[in-house]
Amino acid sequence: MSEEFEPAVHCPASSRKIAVIGSGYVGLAVSVSLAMLGHVVECTDKSRERIAELAQGRVPIVEEGLTEAVRDMLAAGRLRFGTDNALAAARAEYVFLCLPTPDRADGRADLSFVRAVAIEIGPHLRPGATVITKSTVPVGTGDMVETALGRGDVHVASNPEFLAEGSAIRDCTDPDRIVIGARSDAVARGVAELYGSFGRSRSILTDIASAELIKYASNAYLATRLTFVNSMAEICDAAGADIRSVLAGMGSDSRIGGAFLRPGPGWGGSCFPKDTQALVRTAEDLGCDLALVKTAIAANAHHTQRVTDKAIAALDGNVEGSRIAVWGLTFKAGTDDLRRSPALDIARRLAALGASVQAYDPTVAAGPLHGIEAHSSSFAACKGADALIIGTEWPEFASVDLAELAAVMGRPIIIDARNLLDPAAVARKGFVYTGLGTPVRPAGAAKVAA
Ligand code: UDX
Repeated sequence: MSEEFEPAVHCPASSRKIAVIGSGYVGLAVSVSLAMLGHVVECTDKSRERIAELAQGRVPIVEEGLTEAVRDMLAAGRLRFGTDNALAAARAEYVFLCLPTPDRADGRADLSFVRAVAIEIGPHLRPGATVITKSTVPVGTGDMVETALGRGDVHVASNPEFLAEGSAIRDCTDPDRIVIGARSDAVARGVAELYGSFGRSRSILTDIASAELIKYASNAYLATRLTFVNSMAEICDAAGADIRSVLAGMGSDSRIGGAFLRPGPGWGGSCFPKDTQALVRTAEDLGCDLALVKTAIAANAHHTQRVTDKAIAALDGNVEGSRIAVWGLTFKAGTDDLRRSPALDIARRLAALGASVQAYDPTVAAGPLHGIEAHSSSFAACKGADALIIGTEWPEFASVDLAELAAVMGRPIIIDARNLLDPAAVARKGFVYTGLGTPVRPAGAAKVAA
């Protein structure tokens, strides 16, 4: 194959030639992180437009620090972008597969992108190269990749990515753990070495099937944990208890921990809904019944409907013809990702019931969107509104001037689906406030822990 990709700058002796196939969230974050560690990385994608933009340092997604990191690494000569998977793979000692594994209609992960790329690059790999699957894939995918590569002289490994959107660079450069599954210790250690000191201190080396399962198990556990939290908020609503105190009490048990315990409108995004379904299907295929995760999936759908019902109740059932403001449309703060966003889902449900929905999200351009109208500022979205729903936890919403907000809205009703505001402070400004398991206590009543 043609010219080698030689960086313009000096690279450390431990520097490796790496190909990253796929330039989505995971592929980009992995590429820049490996380049930052001193490796020479070529990231490819089949979209010529996307690659042309990236080569100019223009990153098409909102992700803190990503644009700067891409530009720095391009300037350092350790990162480049291309569209030829086979050529990039031929040059590389390590090839990372960062391809989408969307859900099929039956809930199983669609592995066709992974399989097609493995077939494409197989004949071009250097003898001794290692092909590493980063995408979230079901148990058994390592075997499939090995077969699709059709080579007895290369290695395969599983190294699932745990980054979360909004903290992708931090998660990649300072990970809790690096999970590596391989057929031999030597291959696993070779992959661990790519991560420098973290690779030595934070790696969990195991077999491929276990590595593949760790990713699904982690996401399904976290999703189930959130469903539990949202269910506790429902009980708090019924019992007049305060979820903030309940979670502070629970989270201070070191076996439980306080992270990932925020109630919300339901979990969404590109991973949890897809990965929980895929794990249920994998379990079925293996003759196991994952009743707990099935229940969490159903309870999550119920919870998003319950939050919608809270908004309907706050309007005394009069949704048709009402004007409802929605703050936040992305599935969480810190991203422009609208995939399976509960905030957007609630907005669309209310629009379908005849409400005129006026939304604002810092990452969404003004204009019509799925039957709702996006506005260019938080206050513009609230003009004349009968109620305001906070659907995404963008920090700017927490510091809103409540007096100004009251002056803009038609009726002072807030449904806070992220428990972002202080119920007592909001009530003092004359709003009727509905949170998730957060009773508005009269002044002088039991102190509420922050
Ligand atoms: C998740 C995993 O965290 C990550 O390790 C994996 O690699 C991909 O899937 P991501 O989907 O980017 O990452 O977002 P995450 O921060 O995990 O949030 C997932 C959903 O849970 C969002 O809808 C979010 O709003 C919700 N959430 C999260 C809560 O409702 N409360 C919380 O306390 C945390």
